[in-house]
Amino acid sequence: MSNDKIRIAVFVSGGGTNLQALIDKQKSGVINSGEICLVISNNPNAYALERAKKAGIKTEIVSRKEYADQREFENKLISLIKENGIELIVLAGFMCILSERFTSKYPKRIINVHPSLIPSFCGKGFYGLNVHRAALDYGVKVTGATVHFVNEIPDGGEIIMQKAVEVKDGDTPEVLQKRVMVNAEWIILPQAVEKVSRQMLDKD
Ligand code: GAR
Repeated sequence: MSNDKIRIAVFVSGGGTNLQALIDKQKSGVINSGEICLVISNNPNAYALERAKKAGIKTEIVSRKEYADQREFENKLISLIKENGIELIVLAGFMCILSERFTSKYPKRIINVHPSLIPSFCGKGFYGLNVHRAALDYGVKVTGATVHFVNEIPDGGEIIMQKAVEVKDGDTPEVLQKRVMVNAEWIILPQAVEKVSRQMLDKD
C-alpha cells in the first residue's frame, strides 16, 4: 500500500502513559512516518481511552469476556485492523496474550514495549509491576526497557531498541517502574515506532 504515513493502531489496557508518550511525540514530530489512527482497549475503564479521546483519536473497546473464546476475540481485533486500514500495531501496556494465529498474520508488524532488559525478567507472568518486583528481588543494579517485534513466543521476538536504567538503593517496585518509564519506555517506544514506520515507508 503506498501511503503518506503508516496507519498505526495502539492496543492498551490501563493508564496509557506509553500511549501518551506516542501522542506527544507525534505532535512534536519525533513520529513523522506514522500516524496513530486507532486505540483499542480490552478494558472499558482504561484511562488510556480518555487520553486517546482528548487527542481526537478513534477508540474501540474489545473486551475478552464479551467473546466466547480467544479465536472470536482475535477475530474482532482482526476485523477492526482491516476496516481501519491498520498497517502497524503497537502494544503499549496491552495485558492480553495474543495467539500464534494472530501474531503470525502480522510478522514484523506488531511492536511491544516491555519494562526490563530482555532476556531478563520477561515471558509468561512478567508484566507491569511484577517485572520490577522480580528485578528488585534478584538484586540487579541495572534494568531498563526493551521494544521488540512480537511473535509467537511471549517477549521473544526480535529486539528493536533497548535502554538501560540504574536501580537505586531503597527502590520500591513503584519507584523503579516510574524511573524506567520516564528514562526508557517513553523515549524508546516512540523512537522505535518512527524507525519501523520509516522502514515500512521506504520499502513501498
Ligand atoms: C508499562 O510499564 C509497560 O511496559 C508494561 O505495562 C506498563 C503499562 O503502562 N507492559 C508490560 O509489562 C507488558 N509485558 P501504561 O499503560 O502507563 O503505558
